[in-house]
Amino acid sequence: MNKIIAIWGNPNSGKTALSIKLAIELSRQKKNVILIHSDYITPAISTVLPLKDTKDQSLGNLLSSVQITQDEILKKCMTLDKNDYLSIMGYLHGENERTYAKYGKENIVDFFILLKHLADHIIIDCCSMVTQDILSRTALELSDQVIRLITPDLKAISYFDSILPLVAERKFNLQNHVKVLSNVKPDMPKDVVSNKFGGISKELVYTEELERQFYEGRLFEHLMEKKSAAYLNMIEELIAGIIGEDESMQQKTTKGSLLKGLWKRGGKDHE
Ligand SMILES: Nc1ncnc2c1ncn2[C@@H]1O[C@H](COP(=O)(O)OP(=O)(O)OP(=O)(O)O)[C@@H](O)[C@H]1O
Ligand SMILES: [Mg+2]
Repeated sequence: MNKIIAIWGNPNSGKTALSIKLAIELSRQKKNVILIHSDYITPAISTVLPLKDTKDQSLGNLLSSVQITQDEILKKCMTLDKNDYLSIMGYLHGENERTYAKYGKENIVDFFILLKHLADHIIIDCCSMVTQDILSRTALELSDQVIRLITPDLKAISYFDSILPLVAERKFNLQNHVKVLSNVKPDMPKDVVSNKFGGISKELVYTEELERQFYEGRLFEHLMEKKSAAYLNMIEELIAGIIGEDESMQQKTTKGSLLKGLWKRGGKDHE
């Protein structure tokens, strides 16, 4: 089972949207999921959960603490009403590198190790600029699976031609990435991009419903419209590929909510 799944791709390719949709679907299958939005330039929480009362659940403060503990991680997790299986973390509205102390790769490695004990799956919504963000870069290096989103346009080609040489070291395992064309609209130069990169057999189509959800800060809601079926089918295909269908069936009904149990045991108020 792949535990840490990094979603990476060119800017605006749909990384945040896909991360959320994967996290929701896995949590619906009663997997404990922690979703981490790593964008520190445009903190995601206020755009994807605009009404959330975030208190002091800052990812920046957590990552820069002297010692990261499971309890501290749980305090920083945000939850949704009616979903005990999904926890969300990210930088908060107004946060920037001056509002929290600097942190290094060791902290991120510790963070990942602790996360692995807390959840079935950790989904990391990476920054496109992996070279400038230690969290995203370490996620590319240490995750069990990277899903690489590629918009079928010339900007995506320009982005990857520029950045791939910077993550060419073996530790980044580029050849194991699952490459997916994303936000695909009719008339886009799909073939040009597919031929350029090779090995792309999956496609996340553009759906109006998702775009509306994005604008209205409702990405955590389900896609209900018929026209979203192709996008949802690809989510299922990615999950089957990531988890393995048999394993997914076996584990479906065996576990309760790990996070809920931990919170209860600690008697903590994390809501
Ligand atoms: N499959 C899709 N259907 C419709 N709209 C999409 C789809 N995928 C992405 N988008 C749209 O593309 C835009 C960017 O989406 P999103 O923020 O998820 O991308 P991102 O890769 O996380 O961006 P960034 O590089 O800023 O982090 C949004 O307007 C979103 O609605
Ligand atoms: Mg994003």
